[in-house]
Amino acid sequence: MRSAFEQLAQFGATGDGGVNRPTFSEAHLAARAWFREHIQTAGLDFRTDGAGNHGSYLPCGPEDAPALLLGSHLDSVPNGGRFDGALGVMAALEVLKTIKEHELRRRTNLEVIDFTDEEGTLVGLLGSAALAGHLSPDLLQNPRGGRSQLAAGLQRAGLSDESALNAARPKGSLAGYLELHIEQGKRLESLGKQIGIVTAIVGIWSYRLSFIGRADHAGSTTMQDRLDASLGASAFTLTARELVLHDFPSCVVNVGRMDFVPGAFNIVPEQVVLALEFRSPDEDEFTRLDLALLDRARQEATRFGLQLKIEHLGKHAPVPMDENIQGAIAHACDDLKLTHASLASGAGHDGQSLADLCPVGMIFVPSVAGASHSPREFTQWEDCVNGANVLLQTVLRLTI
Ligand code: GLV
Ligand code: MN
Ligand code: MN
Repeated sequence: MRSAFEQLAQFGATGDGGVNRPTFSEAHLAARAWFREHIQTAGLDFRTDGAGNHGSYLPCGPEDAPALLLGSHLDSVPNGGRFDGALGVMAALEVLKTIKEHELRRRTNLEVIDFTDEEGTLVGLLGSAALAGHLSPDLLQNPRGGRSQLAAGLQRAGLSDESALNAARPKGSLAGYLELHIEQGKRLESLGKQIGIVTAIVGIWSYRLSFIGRADHAGSTTMQDRLDASLGASAFTLTARELVLHDFPSCVVNVGRMDFVPGAFNIVPEQVVLALEFRSPDEDEFTRLDLALLDRARQEATRFGLQLKIEHLGKHAPVPMDENIQGAIAHACDDLKLTHASLASGAGHDGQSLADLCPVGMIFVPSVAGASHSPREFTQWEDCVNGANVLLQTVLRLTI
């Protein structure tokens, strides 16, 4: 597993320990091709679908039994780490190989999956949403990565809107979904625990907000005369932080990008397009935070004489993990004499899409210093192996 993991980390390697593999970039397509070959070389069956999900199916159960799905994703954020997603995919494949090598018969069949575009370069949770039947033509028309980028990416991968919309699986076809992932936070490290049992995945909403003013000469226009879009965007960013810190302590907000139009030293910004994302573990709190944030955005636009355009780019609800799976993970840890703690995930994961299709569970391993979405992301190899063993033992318990 280590050798395969290290080979995979060469695709899009940035030279500082990280990888740059945004969805359907050259490096991502090369990693996908390598994964396909790796599956076939292992003598396993390769599968793909209209959303570009890649994987393998092991018929180790009765022919008509559903499959227990194991997986994660091979795409990365721009200049991300080598563990986020990749660890879960390689561990899932290792479990499949182990069960095949030992010719074990199980109550269900098994399947590994590398979900397309988990990170949201194009849409976010694209492959899992497609599989769960949650994709809509509207979402594909206005994805968070931009429509033209999505259309070009799908074309590079030999896919289309239609094929993605047709990738839905019927209810009852999956016995469950299980994912091993790095924690991406510091809780396991500070608690001194080896394994995290995920209780829930946080919800995520995203918006594109455009503050619209007027382009003017940056030298000859007086400060009083300007309709400077950057002022609304900047003031909103600061006020959003204050709002969450004071009134929504269990939530987080992020402005991950601001695009200035026209974007020149000597032109007052006519427009600033801002990428806004916020997260909450609780649905009611989400609704209140949503209203409060948009209210602040309108106030800041008005304060600087700007227009505000609001585009809602999708919502992933917070989802609890299946209690039976959480129990199986705890037993697996106890069998392996590994210490464990229960915790909620502050990162989004494909399990969010699948929760109304089948029971979902997640296993976390510690992230050194909590670093993630950065080349500093690191997990000790011993912890990766512990996580893979817990994944295997949990699968064996769930399919007995
Ligand atoms: C995915 O990693 C996310 O939480 O944005
Ligand atoms: Mn991930
Ligand atoms: Mn990630």
